[in-house]
Amino acid sequence: MCGIVGYIGKQETLPILIEGIKRLEYRGYDSAGIAVINDKGELIIHKRSGKIVEMEKTLPDEKNFNSCLGIAHTRWATHGEPSTTNAHPHLDCENKIAIVHNGIIENYKVLKKNLQNEGHKFNTDTDTEVLAHLIEEVYDKINDFHKAVNEALKLVEGTYGLVVISKDEPQKIIAARKGSPLIIGVGEEENYIASDVAALVVHTKNVIYLKDNETAEITKDSFKIRTLANESVAPIVKKINWDISMIEKGDFDYFMQKEIYEQPDSIENAFRGRLNDELNTARLGGVHLNPEQLENIKQIVIVACGTSWHAGLVGEYMIESMARIPVKVQYASEFRYRDPIIDHKTLVISISQSGETADTLAAIREAREKGAKVMGITNVIGSTIARETDFGSYIHAGAEIGVASTKAFTSQLTVLFLLGWMLGRMRLLTPEIGAKYGDELKKIPEKVTEIISYNDYIKEIVEASPIPENALYLGRGINYPVALEGALKLKEISYIHAEGYPAAEMKHGPIALIDENMPVIFIAPDDYVYDKILSNIEEVRARKGKVIAITNKSCDGIKDMADHVIFIPKTISLLSPLLTVIPLQLLSLHYALAKGCDVDQPRNLAKSVTVE
Ligand code: F6R
Repeated sequence: MCGIVGYIGKQETLPILIEGIKRLEYRGYDSAGIAVINDKGELIIHKRSGKIVEMEKTLPDEKNFNSCLGIAHTRWATHGEPSTTNAHPHLDCENKIAIVHNGIIENYKVLKKNLQNEGHKFNTDTDTEVLAHLIEEVYDKINDFHKAVNEALKLVEGTYGLVVISKDEPQKIIAARKGSPLIIGVGEEENYIASDVAALVVHTKNVIYLKDNETAEITKDSFKIRTLANESVAPIVKKINWDISMIEKGDFDYFMQKEIYEQPDSIENAFRGRLNDELNTARLGGVHLNPEQLENIKQIVIVACGTSWHAGLVGEYMIESMARIPVKVQYASEFRYRDPIIDHKTLVISISQSGETADTLAAIREAREKGAKVMGITNVIGSTIARETDFGSYIHAGAEIGVASTKAFTSQLTVLFLLGWMLGRMRLLTPEIGAKYGDELKKIPEKVTEIISYNDYIKEIVEASPIPENALYLGRGINYPVALEGALKLKEISYIHAEGYPAAEMKHGPIALIDENMPVIFIAPDDYVYDKILSNIEEVRARKGKVIAITNKSCDGIKDMADHVIFIPKTISLLSPLLTVIPLQLLSLHYALAKGCDVDQPRNLAKSVTVE
């Protein structure tokens, strides 16, 4: 999604802005731009469609900028095609006000018409340009920049994280937030503003999260926060716990690769301090429900999107099996429009890596309105979902920069396992079974390390055959969602069409696709459905499909049936997705690299989807 960076202080602005938006490249974008006010009081705008480096190449001589105040943006098109004209910043009629904006202005057509009637001239197809003219219109009347932004925003319907500067008031940046994150980075004699902490972490660890309907006036040594209703708000400075190594590739060529390799640690971080070895259960400190409330939960509804939704599907198996509570998993985008049947005995769990996904956020609001308690399972500390849920657990995966989610998925599974285990122990799970779960979980990081060491072998599998145009992923039981996740990973970063199915469903339709060009990836750990999967493998072989099987070392009979076998260490069925997904992540990485794709910034995708 779009990214915003702003700076005001004692340093030359341009390098800070460029470096800042480069840190946000991972979010996905199609154009980039900057606006600075130089020491002569001139407003300089520069923007280009395409990558930031393209914009950089065409910048006028850097020395001419002499500026200590500026804003920058990476745009992911919503209204108006990706182009240099439509790239942000946008300007008012007098070229005095420059604005960058994330989000969508829903009533922009009406506002635009009214402004055109007042004589405003528009140059772009964007909804954002309307904001520049609207602020200009109000500013001309009340001559107070911060107040003008507030008054203008009262007329706006939609979502925004926006940052505005004006030539007439070159010592301040005005920022406003509704539905799209903005964070002030607090420095000494300098301050920052960004849509993502990744752009701030190199400069400061002290941040202020703006809340919805708040606006901020930022100077180099102060910040005033007000609500849209003009009440002043006391800023709360928080410390972020990210460090710079989290947002850099280190020895790796790609963030996705680094994040796959980080999983032994990220999984351990998700359960560290959360195991109660005395009671053989998990302890999720953030789950603020008393034992009576926990026992009264009659159903659980999980809402999420994409990979987080797949984690939810695995969570369904985990929680139902351990706690015997019925679980439904719904796409957040569907949940909000289906008048869901939920009440105060329903626990809604929202899962989101970014904590900013618009559809998930809307589902949470719908659930809370209907009286359900909502738990958040998120990665980004202080994110909107973390703040809008009743209680929750962080997955502590650290910054996930690769657009394709990898380590967040396994950390989400870990937290869902802890939750199911904890609920189960409060109900019917015996201490003996509880102890076994704890023992098995502790062994997972080491087993993940072993699977990652098969990287070269997995690369050889990819290189052994021509790159396919399609692929089928099949799994059963708790590994069916892993098949979905494997297929999603492949299509996202390699653009190879892939589908995931429960293995037995293959003969109800997808079997028609199988021929000698179709790789079929079976997720077949040694569990209660292993024998059934073998029959499915036979069915594929009979139709000349290429079989890649992921199984355990105990199942070496599969060698004669498959073209390639990836043997992984064994664990209990409920934890097996934490292992089976790792070879699938590596497979998609190598397919994408073999095709020459940009694995960290796949086309059309955004890291956090803050629009509906
Ligand atoms: C896939 C992927 C997306 C996200 C989805 C939800 O690799 O990253 O499918 O999982 O957009 O995002 P979060 O988890 O941030 O709510």
